[in-house]
Amino acid sequence: MKRLTLRKFVYLLLALLVFNCSSDSSDDVQEQEEENQNSAVTYNNTVRAIISNNCTNCHGNPTANGAPTSYTTYTQVRNGIDNIISRINNASNPMPQNGLMTQSLRDDIQQWKDDGLLEN
Ligand code: HEC
Repeated sequence: MKRLTLRKFVYLLLALLVFNCSSDSSDDVQEQEEENQNSAVTYNNTVRAIISNNCTNCHGNPTANGAPTSYTTYTQVRNGIDNIISRINNASNPMPQNGLMTQSLRDDIQQWKDDGLLEN
């Protein structure tokens, strides 16, 4: 009788252990999925390409065509972000000068600011 109780106890422990392990790993999977879904806009994953495709032929290093500032590094773009957001959305004085970029590219830049101006 005593022996049977001990065995039940061991089974119970094993069952708890297995249950715990499997619920832990499904939590991990869920966290990972949430991270992927909410992955932030960063300079390196999004913003650098937008600026280099649309801006740095003038705002390069050195600058060209009368552009006053270089936007070729993370720090330069981060420091200029308020001016940049204002000009990329200014239909009467747009940057780039030949017309506004698509809404989705402009939203990406705004989202970068909202996400905290991350580099990576
Ligand atoms: C064809 C050249 C050219 C391109 C391309 C261009 N700019 Fe400019 N940019 C200029 C010139 C010239 C000025 C100065 C005159 C003015 O303010 O309109 C300027 C001024 C600015 C200013 C105000 C001054 C400053 O640096 O704070 C911002 C902000 C700016 N540009 C951002 C951008 C961004 C962002 C892009 C790309 C999305 C871009 N520009 C693309 C030529 C360009």
